[in-house]
Amino acid sequence: MARQAQRYICAECGAVSAKWVGRCDGCGGWNTLAVDSAAFDPARIRHRSRGYELDFVGLSGVAELPSRMSLGIAEFDRVLGGGIVAASAILVGGDPGIGKSTLLLQAAAKLARTGNRVLYISGEESVSQIRLRAQRLGLSDAPVGLASATALSEIVAALERERDAVLIVIDSIQTIWDDTVESAPGSVTQVRANAFALIQSAKSRGYALMLVGHVTKDGMLAGPRVLEHMVDVVLHFEGDRGHQFRILRGAKNRFGATDEIGVFAMTGEGLVEIANPSALFLAERHGNVAGSAVYAGLEGSRPVLMEVQALLSATGTGSGRRSVVGWDAGRLNMLLAVLDARCGLKLGGHDVYLNVAGGLRIAEPAADLAIAAALISASSGVPTDPGMVFFGEIGLSGELRPVAQTELRLKEAAKLGFHSAGVPRGAPNRNGPPPPEGITLAEFGHLKDLIVAMVSYDAGKEE
Ligand code: TYD
Ligand code: MG
Repeated sequence: MARQAQRYICAECGAVSAKWVGRCDGCGGWNTLAVDSAAFDPARIRHRSRGYELDFVGLSGVAELPSRMSLGIAEFDRVLGGGIVAASAILVGGDPGIGKSTLLLQAAAKLARTGNRVLYISGEESVSQIRLRAQRLGLSDAPVGLASATALSEIVAALERERDAVLIVIDSIQTIWDDTVESAPGSVTQVRANAFALIQSAKSRGYALMLVGHVTKDGMLAGPRVLEHMVDVVLHFEGDRGHQFRILRGAKNRFGATDEIGVFAMTGEGLVEIANPSALFLAERHGNVAGSAVYAGLEGSRPVLMEVQALLSATGTGSGRRSVVGWDAGRLNMLLAVLDARCGLKLGGHDVYLNVAGGLRIAEPAADLAIAAALISASSGVPTDPGMVFFGEIGLSGELRPVAQTELRLKEAAKLGFHSAGVPRGAPNRNGPPPPEGITLAEFGHLKDLIVAMVSYDAGKEE
């Protein structure tokens, strides 16, 4: 037999190299290359494809909507874009111990209870362990098909027999092992080959496949990023282990939007859905502390209020540290530069710490105004008005810009008992409905106006 050309693949980024090198050319990672035994051979494929013809069609024509099935967990369905799609593959990633197995067992049980055939295959835990968890969660009566297995051949053979299954959960893809692939369990080659086999099976049999994927220290889905390209949906299950909150976030979705989040709380009885996250995220807030501001944000289609906190400490030297949790560090630096250059607020000699309370992560530029308010408050030592929310984008000249969905954000603030909102000038549409009852607007054109208003708010209180 002719020796197959050997090639190497990076475990972190999936880059392929013809020879082994210590440092990956793709991502710069050290010692991440491993032999890829399933090398690609174009000659063999050309040979095999003889006799097949590919038909091309036009863009117009019959287009079928994917058929969706609700999981019965509204927060999960929302992130999926309205439920699971038949014959699709979903990857759920997250830190160890965050609750992936719990979430998927709960989802499997919910779906099984409505008369659907659901299989849960674990390569990480024994049947007894999973049964104990099911007992604790009160799910023992749900007719889920449970198996503990790691051999791909065994799993695929079982799936061939299970013609009625609508959902298969594999916990986790890293534990599945194919003995025909010459590579250790959990290696890139194994994970990729096994995921491919399972996804092919899902596509041809029409069931939905949920794969649990481990996450590495630096927050990447472990091993091959290639896995993310192979599946239809990538979800991240996030949260701070010290907190109860867990957030299910879409990172990729071929069937829906990726900006929706599902919010859960980890309790003694498993994960509980949080339909109104704002109340929960604000529950631990202490109103009268300097450096805190409430941001009226938007997560997908849903408004969510959250607290942002800033802390400054003088360093004595010219350059302080910046440490950010839950927001973009580059954006914080930009905001500090704008405060310095346009408003004369110099924080260069301070360490700046910024935190989004509750373990949330903000991606919207609309948070600029709330974060600026928290920084100004931390710098002056004057608390922001505890009954006020903030939202608005800040430009490089310090000007404030309106953001989308002003009405939705204001409504949520009113619902939670806030009485005013700091917004960019012109944010409420003059022709649109007035702000909700009980909310007065403080409109700012420039960041300087906010500083003036915050100082006079304090002066007003002392009178
Ligand atoms: P698990 O689902 O095993 O996490 P993963 O699969 O992501 O590794 O959940 C592990 C943690 O969740 C564990 O530390 C205990 C906690 N937990 C609860 O607090 N309540 C519960 O009802 C369950 C089942 C787990
Ligand atoms: Mg697990």
